[in-house]
Amino acid sequence: MCKNEKPINFKPPRQKAALDDLDQYVNMAEGRMSRKVFWERDIYEQELEKIFARVWLFLGHVSQIPKAGDYVTTSMGEDDVLVVRQKDGAIKAFLNTCPHRGNRVCFSEVGNARGFICNYHGWSFGIDGALRGMHESGAYEASGFDKSQHGLHEVAQVDSYKGLIFGTLDPAAPPLKEYLGDFAWYLDTLLDMDGEGTEFIGGCVRSVMKCNWKFGAENFAGDVMHAGWTHDSGAKAMLGGAVPELDKCAGDSYHVNVNGHGWEFNLDKVGNSATFGDKEVRRYIHEIQPKVAERLGHTRSMMIGSISSATVFPNMSFLPGQNTFRVWQPRGPDEIELHTWTLVNKSAPEEIKERYRRGTMITFSPSGVFEMDDGENFEYSTRSNRGRVTREQDLFLGLGIGTRIEHPELPGNVFQGQINEANQRAYYQRWLDFMKAESWDELPQR
Ligand code: FES
Ligand SMILES: [Fe+2]
Repeated sequence: MCKNEKPINFKPPRQKAALDDLDQYVNMAEGRMSRKVFWERDIYEQELEKIFARVWLFLGHVSQIPKAGDYVTTSMGEDDVLVVRQKDGAIKAFLNTCPHRGNRVCFSEVGNARGFICNYHGWSFGIDGALRGMHESGAYEASGFDKSQHGLHEVAQVDSYKGLIFGTLDPAAPPLKEYLGDFAWYLDTLLDMDGEGTEFIGGCVRSVMKCNWKFGAENFAGDVMHAGWTHDSGAKAMLGGAVPELDKCAGDSYHVNVNGHGWEFNLDKVGNSATFGDKEVRRYIHEIQPKVAERLGHTRSMMIGSISSATVFPNMSFLPGQNTFRVWQPRGPDEIELHTWTLVNKSAPEEIKERYRRGTMITFSPSGVFEMDDGENFEYSTRSNRGRVTREQDLFLGLGIGTRIEHPELPGNVFQGQINEANQRAYYQRWLDFMKAESWDELPQR
């Protein structure tokens, strides 16, 4: 480097101006937000830094990696990661990139390995991420190279909650239990119906949508409103009738949210949405309901298989009872890679599991009827913002402001009525919290 040359700063400069603007972009007290949140590249880059590089993100299900050396590859934001079961049963995760020149280390989606060898210059890594050796190792040894300093970069924290594996790239993040908070009470409805646990069946379906990643997440957090309209013809084709009794969901029904995680449901239609009309699955849900009531109480037993949907902030969603389980992986401001699985009770009869799997395929997979409906909506909600003037217009999500109630049993923030936008507001409020907070200490509890 010559005297006047400055060192190269590879970090893109912080977009301070846009950060200052964020309060104007998201105003949840009035239920309005800017379309720029779904379009601007600067904002997207900040999402990767302020959200995806910090929060707990879903990495996989323990049933995918039962034995030592079992692994799955996924991503945290746009960081590719490798999740591996260790010899002692622990789970570790690493950036899926070689510390030599950066090549991808593991190309399979899932498998079992004794180690990982990079295709480029042959560096090899143990399942614990340590650098074990390399092609031309003699040359490295002769130069005094210290292998212990060149292992795979480890994901800062990995933990699981009742079968779901999460990781965070931020060593300062609070424990997973704290991140989920009272939302774990609701998650038990999905994950702990009978104490036998859950599993993923049938592998992962990966698809691409040209939409902003938040559209899927906010839709599952609380948008039952679209179902009776968007999915009406699909439901008619599938069931010979409209989405079952959706119009009656305004009775004993709620939006609940905790720190941006959202679940909308009703309590009077158990088994209503189970794989949209599969009588055997519905019969199964009615059969297990009394046992769920014994374990989790009557209220949560009524939530299984009701018309409902949920999102764990920021990008993991599922339909309780229908058991589509998915992650909206961001790939730029206007594209996602959608990962979809089918989650079932381990104890369910094999035939029921297979019916759930088929139910996922015909509803929420790339060939699924409802996925096509939603995909078109999400894609056009995103791409209309390419218009310079369009982008300046606000969006409205103010339905149900003032419907918050105190509930004797339900934890978190509870809102009356399933046709509501309370959870979407809570989701974007949390988005704003993270985008503004420089540290976890600055994040309010919500
Ligand atoms: S990039 Fe992996 S060994 Fe060179
Ligand atoms: Fe939908």
